[in-house]
Amino acid sequence: MKLLVLLLAAAAAAAPRDADGYHPSGAAQLRSGDGASAPEPGPAERRADYWHAEAQAALAARLEPVDRRAARSVIMFLGDGLSVPTLAAARALQGQLQGRPGEEARLAFETFPVTGLAKTYCVDAQIPDSACTATAYLCGSKGNLGTVGVSGGVPRGACAAAADPALQVQSLAAWALDAGRSAGLVTTTRVTHASPAGVYAHSAERDWESDADIPAECRRERGAQADIAHQLVHSFPGNRLKVILGGGRREFLPNSTVDEEGARGRRLDGRDLVGEWRADKRARNASHSYVWDRAGLLAAPADDDYLLGLFESSHMQYHAEADAAREPSLAELTEAAIARLSRNPRGYFLFVEGGRIDHAHHDNLPRLALLETLQLSEAVARAARLAAPDTLLLLTADHAHVMTYNGYSRRGNPVLGLSGDAGRDGKPYLTLSYTNGPGYRPHGADGRPDVSTDDYLSPWYQRSAMVPLASETHGGEDVAVFARGPGQHVFTGLYEQSQLPHLMGYAACLGPGRHACHDYHEP
Ligand SMILES: *[C@@H]1O[C@H](CO)[C@@H](O)[C@H](O)[C@H]1NC(C)=O
Ligand SMILES: *[C@@H]1O[C@H](CO)[C@@H](O)[C@H](O)[C@H]1NC(C)=O
Ligand SMILES: [Zn+2]
Repeated sequence: MKLLVLLLAAAAAAAPRDADGYHPSGAAQLRSGDGASAPEPGPAERRADYWHAEAQAALAARLEPVDRRAARSVIMFLGDGLSVPTLAAARALQGQLQGRPGEEARLAFETFPVTGLAKTYCVDAQIPDSACTATAYLCGSKGNLGTVGVSGGVPRGACAAAADPALQVQSLAAWALDAGRSAGLVTTTRVTHASPAGVYAHSAERDWESDADIPAECRRERGAQADIAHQLVHSFPGNRLKVILGGGRREFLPNSTVDEEGARGRRLDGRDLVGEWRADKRARNASHSYVWDRAGLLAAPADDDYLLGLFESSHMQYHAEADAAREPSLAELTEAAIARLSRNPRGYFLFVEGGRIDHAHHDNLPRLALLETLQLSEAVARAARLAAPDTLLLLTADHAHVMTYNGYSRRGNPVLGLSGDAGRDGKPYLTLSYTNGPGYRPHGADGRPDVSTDDYLSPWYQRSAMVPLASETHGGEDVAVFARGPGQHVFTGLYEQSQLPHLMGYAACLGPGRHACHDYHEP
C-alpha cells in the first residue's frame, strides 16, 4: 500500500529543476496536466523561417502610413476586470475550442496595431473600483473610490458636494453630443451599474442606482443629485443617448410593479422611468422603441431616433448560461447600436461594456470570465466589420483581477485544466488560480486538497484561492489599451488611465483638446 502511494506520488511529482532549482529541466518533463494528449503545434512552427516570416509581416503592417485624419466616430470597448492574464488565458481557450494548441490564437482586438498600458489607481485608492475608473476613462479625471462622474474633491457619499457643478466632470458622450454627434451605451450589466454610469451620471456613491438606495439626507428634494436611473432618463447627457442597451429594469420600476419577466421593481417613489423615458421622447416628437427581449430588439425599427432595451431585471445573464434565443449577445447589441448611431453623418461615440468578466472573477469562476471575454471579442469583431473606416476602435479594461496563469505545462495544455507540473506534496495544481476569494479551502490532515478529481471544467467550479474572502478582489497592475483607426498612434506608451478621454478627444476632435484638432471637417 505504502509503495502504491509512493508510486502515485511519483507520477504526479513536480518536474525536475535546472541547476538553479528555478526552472524545469528536460524536454520530456513538459507534461499536459490531464494526461490527455494536447494538440500539437503545426510542423511549420519548428522552423525558424515560419517565425521570421511572421515577424516580417507584422513589421510591414506596423510600417503602414499612419492615418492622420480625425476620427468621425469612436467606439470604446471596456472589459470590466479584463486583466492581462485574463487576455492570455482567453486567447488560449479560444484556440483550444477550435482544436488548436491555443496560445497562438488572437482575440479580435489583439490585431489592432497600437497598444498601450494604463495605470488604474484612483485619487484615494491604490487598487481601484469600476466607478472611479469609469470617471477616469470616460471623463478624463481621476476621482475617489466608489464615486462616479465627480472629481477627487467629492469624498464617497458626500451627496451635497456631488451636486456642485464645479465638482462634476463631463464624459466623452457629453463632449460628442455638444459637438452635434450622437452617443449611446451598451453593457451586459445593469445600465445603472458603475461603468456605464460614467457615461452619464454624477454620483457620490455608485450604489445609488434607484431612489431606494439613497439615504434620507441625500434625497433629491434636499438638493442632492437624483439616483442614477433617474439621471439616465431625465438629465443630460443620459436623456440624449440614442441607444441604451443592457440590464437593470428593476431600477426603473416601482416596487408595486412586476416587469415583463415577473421580477419586481425596486423604486420607492412610485415612478415608472421606462414610461417617463417614452413620454420624454414623445414630447420631443422623436420616434422611439422600448424592448425587453431579443425578439423585440431584432424587430425594432432601425430608423428610430431612440432605442431603450432592458433585457433583465438585474444584470444580463452570463452568455454561456443564457437562452440565446431570448437574450441577445453583446455582438447583437453592438450591431443594433451601430446601425442606429451611424445614421448621424457627423458621427458618434459608443461605449460597449463586457461587464461580467469582473463578476465571474469575483466568484473565482475563470471559465465564465474567459467565455465572457470571448463574447466581448466577438462584439469587437462585429464592430470592426460594421463601423465606417473613419471610426476609432479602442478596447481597454478598468482594472485587473488576481487570477494567475501559472505552472510549467506543455504547449496546448487545456488552460482550464491541471498544470502538467505538481506541488512538492506530489499533488497537482490548476493552471488558473487566485490569490484570494471564495474558492479558498482549508488544508486537511494530509495537507491541501487534491483538486485532480474535482469537476474543474464546470463553469461553476470555484478555483483555489490562497486567502479566504467572500469576494475575490481587484488587482492593482496596469491594464492594456488596444487601438485601431484614425489617431491610433497617440495611444502608445504607459500613462494615467484618465488620459484616455483626452487621447480619444484628440483623435476625434472632441472635448477640451478640440482646439488642437488637426483636419476635422464638418460633414
Ligand atoms: C414598497 O415600498 C414601500 C415603502 O418602503 C413599502 O411600504 C411597501 O410595502 C413596498 N411594496 C412592496 C410590494 O414590496
Ligand atoms: C412631428 O414629426 C412628424 C413626423 O416627422 C412631423 O410631421 C410633425 O410636424 C412633427 N410635429 C412637431 C410638433 O414637431
Ligand atoms: Zn469588480
